[in-house]
Amino acid sequence: MRYRKIGNTEMRASVLAFGSWAAGGWMWGGTDEKKALEAIWTAFDHGINFIDTAPVYGFGRSEEIVGKAVREVSRDQVFIATKCGLVWDKKDWPSGKGDFHFYSTDEGYGTGEESDWRVYRYLRPESIRKEVEMSLQRLQTDYIDLLQTHWQDSTSKIEETMGTLLELKAEGKIRAIGVSNVQSDDLDQYFQKGEVDVIQERFSLLDRKIETNGLLEYARRKNMSLLPYSPMCRGLLTGKMSPERKFNPGDRRNYEERFSPENRARVNEKLRRLLPLAEEYGLSIAQLILAWTFSKYEKTHVLCGARNQEQVLENVKAGDTVLSEESIFKIEKIFEDF
Ligand SMILES: NC(=O)c1ccc[n+]([C@@H]2O[C@H](COP(=O)([O-])OP(=O)(O)OC[C@H]3O[C@@H](n4cnc5c(N)ncnc54)[C@H](OP(=O)(O)O)[C@@H]3O)[C@@H](O)[C@H]2O)c1
Repeated sequence: MRYRKIGNTEMRASVLAFGSWAAGGWMWGGTDEKKALEAIWTAFDHGINFIDTAPVYGFGRSEEIVGKAVREVSRDQVFIATKCGLVWDKKDWPSGKGDFHFYSTDEGYGTGEESDWRVYRYLRPESIRKEVEMSLQRLQTDYIDLLQTHWQDSTSKIEETMGTLLELKAEGKIRAIGVSNVQSDDLDQYFQKGEVDVIQERFSLLDRKIETNGLLEYARRKNMSLLPYSPMCRGLLTGKMSPERKFNPGDRRNYEERFSPENRARVNEKLRRLLPLAEEYGLSIAQLILAWTFSKYEKTHVLCGARNQEQVLENVKAGDTVLSEESIFKIEKIFEDF
């Protein structure tokens, strides 16, 4: 496993991080806590010291599981990243506070007004502070290594949001600052107030927007770390998602065109064409896809979700692989019409 510094800080974290959204179950058709814990410990045993979570993943459940996992190891050996800015409420949330994001149930997306929960993007100072206190409790720790704004909120001023993050850093409650799901303009405003260490964005062979919308370039210019999320496109790019697979109720993949049986077959056909290259490197398809995700920027830490220890054991091997320029070109060529 390779390790590298986070942004301009002196903190080092593994290039592969354990993404614990699925561990919370919500939007993933449920979770098995025992398997999730085994998966996290397996990741730790194999050199992954970086774990990413968020309060909203399972409405606290993912953070609680991460807290239980970290309690069994030495706190200073683990780099914990969590987030703020997605809050959930029953039906009495005051209007004008935050941007409505979506309806939800305990299991996944809600269909409308009758749903139990409303999820809002909300980044006002008092809310961030409240969220951080809750996260610290669930994670059973007294500091968070990296706190990221999860989604941006048009009703909060970035200047004040960033001011609060800097205060939390000065107080020792957080050690680094990150942003997720941003535009370059938002970043300009964050940087007017202080330094951002990390940018977390969707990035995979099927989601390459950051290469053209200025965000990857921004990261390079500021020496920020890049945390690509959903690098395997939530399982679609592992070569193991058959068109026949049925997802559990609540699993978000039930509702997305990208996961239709026809599209799964189309993606699998492309992935089959990668087999000779994967064999050349002694990698599986999932490992080759993860290795590609590192190839664009030397300060990348790939956030990799896993449901069980078998998946972790497979994925972890990608943490040592560096692909040649020629191989990167071949991979991209096969997917150029996606
Ligand atoms: N900032 C944001 O807005 C944001 C958004 C999304 C994610 N994230 C972060 O990024 C992390 C990773 O993204 P992600 O979990 O969405 O997607 P991902 O890493 O692309 O996919 C993870 C899923 O793929 C399947 N999988 C993983 N390894 C596999 C293997 N070797 N073989 C077969 N299947 C395998 C598992 O699901 P099944 O077994 O159920 O198929 C697993 O839960 C998240 O956990 C979260 O920490 C952040």
